[in-house]
Amino acid sequence: MYQIYPRSFADSDGDGIGDLPGITARLDHLVELGADAVWLSPFYPSPQADAGYDVADYRGVDPIFGRLEDIDKLLTQAHSRGLRVIVDLVPNHTSSAHPWFVEALASTPGSAARQRYIFRDGRGAGGDKPPNSWQSVFGGPAWTRVTDADGAPGQWYLHLFDAGQPDLNWDHPEIRAEFGDILRFWLDRGVDGFRVDVAHGLVKQADLADWHYPDEPVSGEPVEGPRPPMWDQDGVHDIYRDWRSILDKYPGDRVLVAEAWVQPAERLAAYVRPDEMHQAFNFEYLEAAWTAPAQYAVIDRSLAATDAVGAPTTWVLSNHDVLRHASRLGLPVGTIRPRGIGADDPQPDAALGLRRARAATLMMLALPGSAYLYQGEELGLPEHTTMADDARQDPTWVRSGQTERGRDGCRVPIPWEADAPSYGFGPTDSSWLPQPAVWAEYALDRQRDVPGSTYELYRTALRLRRDLALGTGRLSWVDGPEDVLAFRNGELLVVTNFGAEPAALPEGAEPIHASAALDPDGRVPTDVTVWARV
Ligand code: NOJ
Repeated sequence: MYQIYPRSFADSDGDGIGDLPGITARLDHLVELGADAVWLSPFYPSPQADAGYDVADYRGVDPIFGRLEDIDKLLTQAHSRGLRVIVDLVPNHTSSAHPWFVEALASTPGSAARQRYIFRDGRGAGGDKPPNSWQSVFGGPAWTRVTDADGAPGQWYLHLFDAGQPDLNWDHPEIRAEFGDILRFWLDRGVDGFRVDVAHGLVKQADLADWHYPDEPVSGEPVEGPRPPMWDQDGVHDIYRDWRSILDKYPGDRVLVAEAWVQPAERLAAYVRPDEMHQAFNFEYLEAAWTAPAQYAVIDRSLAATDAVGAPTTWVLSNHDVLRHASRLGLPVGTIRPRGIGADDPQPDAALGLRRARAATLMMLALPGSAYLYQGEELGLPEHTTMADDARQDPTWVRSGQTERGRDGCRVPIPWEADAPSYGFGPTDSSWLPQPAVWAEYALDRQRDVPGSTYELYRTALRLRRDLALGTGRLSWVDGPEDVLAFRNGELLVVTNFGAEPAALPEGAEPIHASAALDPDGRVPTDVTVWARV
């Protein structure tokens, strides 16, 4: 599954923002790469307070991305190439520009229009304190106070993300009915499914009890101890059972994929029980340290948890919300994942990061289950870690009081041609986030058919993954030295060396693919993954 972030994939009209016709024109790239399916991040009408995850109209296309016909063309063209397409569904919150929220603001406390969202009176004298202690994932309080028609300060509304993303009240039957209709609208248009944004957030604990945050980032889920009242409430599962029953009425395979930052793996697996969603992003895998014991533990635990409910496991290393793995893995092992990097922060080791990223990817693509790739990782793209702060657009930067750089560094428009304007992203030099000068060396045309390039590493891996049916295979661990992780998937042996010393392959193992050259004695060097036939 290849994630396209429409703003940054390909710009057909030269306004510096990627668009749907740009994607359609580049679909052959995905076929050449060897992807089976595409997930499109939001393209709906939106004020873009959170890059489109603030939806004002769930049934349209924002003019910056094109028109509804452009989606139809994209679907037709993708399907004719054998590519499936899933779209992003954002049910936890709407945009503050959504007609429902506009109506709620124009209505009085307790009115029907306000019941669709989570409005409460404030605490303290004059109600001037937020109703509870909840914090926005982007920083600052999760509540914003509204001003009444007479100009007086009024109630507060809940937004777990930006103030432009008011949370919906999922206890309200009208919300449930509306989202059922939205699903049908897109299924009727021919989409193959949905990636469900913040799938663990829709239902809140009824009393909206205060929550005392641990020191970790507010979106972090404690593995033990009480569950936060805003995340992973049992009530979310009824919603996904309803949606599953809608999808099951459609011909062909249609899927629901949960974006749920939920731990431990057993709780995440509850989202993919037989009558709920089909897959859930495995963020515990993305966050695991680059050591053999940590990788072994997370892979083993993930497989066991999804096996228990009969669902495929998923694997993901990068997306539009996290530091690109070519940079993340260039930070000292054990670093807590930073939420963005700026020019004055410690910089990742780019060469080490890429070497480890290639090894990590090659290990991931041999695992049974579904692998999710994020646009540009097939080029080995690093995070833009020195972006000028005044170019940043992620609300995290402002809401955190400029303490967290946020996610712009992984969202920079991707390079296609080294010597073209905007590196071939579009017909002009314009790019909504600045592209670093190093983009030229990562451009697709510098890597295509170049032996050893990251692009060719991915292509070969995806071809073999398909030929050897690795995605539907079974993993069995192979004993070896402490710093070396080895497993078999069918006839393939996969060896990753995390240690300082080269690791020998078993007698008779015939290497067929590797993330970097083996040493002269045919051993696996540090931070290298090898695929071998046994
Ligand atoms: C998760 C999305 O991936 C992220 O980009 C967005 O900011 C939040 N959900 C809120 O919709």
